[in-house]
Amino acid sequence: MDDSLLKSIAGKYGTPLYVYDGDLVLERCRQFKNAFKGFPVKVKFCYAVKANTSLAILKLIQNQGFGADVVSAGELDAALNAGFKPSDIIYTSNSKSDEDIKAAVKAKINITIDNAAEIEAVEKAGGRKVAFRVNPDVDAKTHPKVSTALSGSKFGLHFTNDIAFNAVKKAVQAGLQPVGIHCHIGSNIKDATAFTEAAGKMMDFAVRLKKELDIKLDFIDFGGGLGVQYKDEIAFTPEQFAGAYKSAVAEGVKKLGYAPEAWFEPGRFIVAEAGIVLAKVNNVKETPAKKFVNVDCGFNVLVRPAMYDAYHKVGVVGKNGEQETYDIAGYLCESGDILAKDRALPKVVKGDLIKIQNAGAYGFSMASNYNSQPLPAEVLVKGGKAHLIRKRQTIKDLYERQLTHSDL
Ligand SMILES: Cc1ncc(COP(=O)(O)O)c(C=O)c1O
Repeated sequence: MDDSLLKSIAGKYGTPLYVYDGDLVLERCRQFKNAFKGFPVKVKFCYAVKANTSLAILKLIQNQGFGADVVSAGELDAALNAGFKPSDIIYTSNSKSDEDIKAAVKAKINITIDNAAEIEAVEKAGGRKVAFRVNPDVDAKTHPKVSTALSGSKFGLHFTNDIAFNAVKKAVQAGLQPVGIHCHIGSNIKDATAFTEAAGKMMDFAVRLKKELDIKLDFIDFGGGLGVQYKDEIAFTPEQFAGAYKSAVAEGVKKLGYAPEAWFEPGRFIVAEAGIVLAKVNNVKETPAKKFVNVDCGFNVLVRPAMYDAYHKVGVVGKNGEQETYDIAGYLCESGDILAKDRALPKVVKGDLIKIQNAGAYGFSMASNYNSQPLPAEVLVKGGKAHLIRKRQTIKDLYERQLTHSDL
């Protein structure tokens, strides 16, 4: 996005601020869909709502014909509110309360069983058709905190010791109808081999369900995980992502003798590059070891650097060059609240605007009120026009649901 536009948006709406390029979100949706042209079976794309849950963004994605992957009653509500059809929504959390399950059954969305105990809860809630989230034990070679299908992972029904197979059998005995299987091996993956390995294991499992339990699935959901370039990594494209699945799915379908749909759940790829965080420089502080740019945001706004050691490109709005090396320091009382380390930037002064790039995924959706900092506002730019899509929280909002008691 153009620096002069960013400056005028920050001037109007203040900082810290999330600014999204809506046209880029649409472009990424189209690119993802196009990559699957000629795929051996019918496909469905369920955007992972957790990546960015803002309603205006969800609506853009829904308009592109996507479904939604949700992990809570709140995300389900957001997806329904944004217009996603219940049959295009899949619920994939590893830990659902009975109320969560009731809400999913009532909304008539697709639900995944993550452990055998959920079978009874679904049955009690009056559910009938179910999918099963399995753990195929695949190393996605990504950050450990976003690896979700290792043998020690909390997610899914493991193939090991026939846990997944026995859960499907139990569900059938309980009168449920298995209609899908699901996996998600991790996030920000830039290597085809893990996706291909997972695809092969999923297809083999579907073959086993057909042979031993005579189950014909409506869909196999392979999850999301397509990574994006944050620094200077080699790009992994949607075409490579689709290609990683293509032959494993085609071969599996031959063995199966029927063709279940293939579902995918991209999150990060759709929204990451479209988002920028704008923060204002409070001051520049020189210590014996470093020069810190103290900004008016922190990991309460963008947690990825603190949580995953994530790298985000940063720049100074309206300035170019590489005159000084700085750390961009957040305003939270935590040593770990550093948004970017050792960055060569033009000379920074109080009042400058820092832009933190590729912040559209797992940015606002992971923001918090730590240190009693209100949540930032969000602006969506589409066709060159800026729209406020979320008002900034106020300090007063922080107290709204708290109760003080005079007798305490
Ligand atoms: C079940 C599930 N599906 C899809 C995704 C989206 O992954 P990504 O944003 O890497 O595409 C996630 C995120 O971790 C997930 O947990």
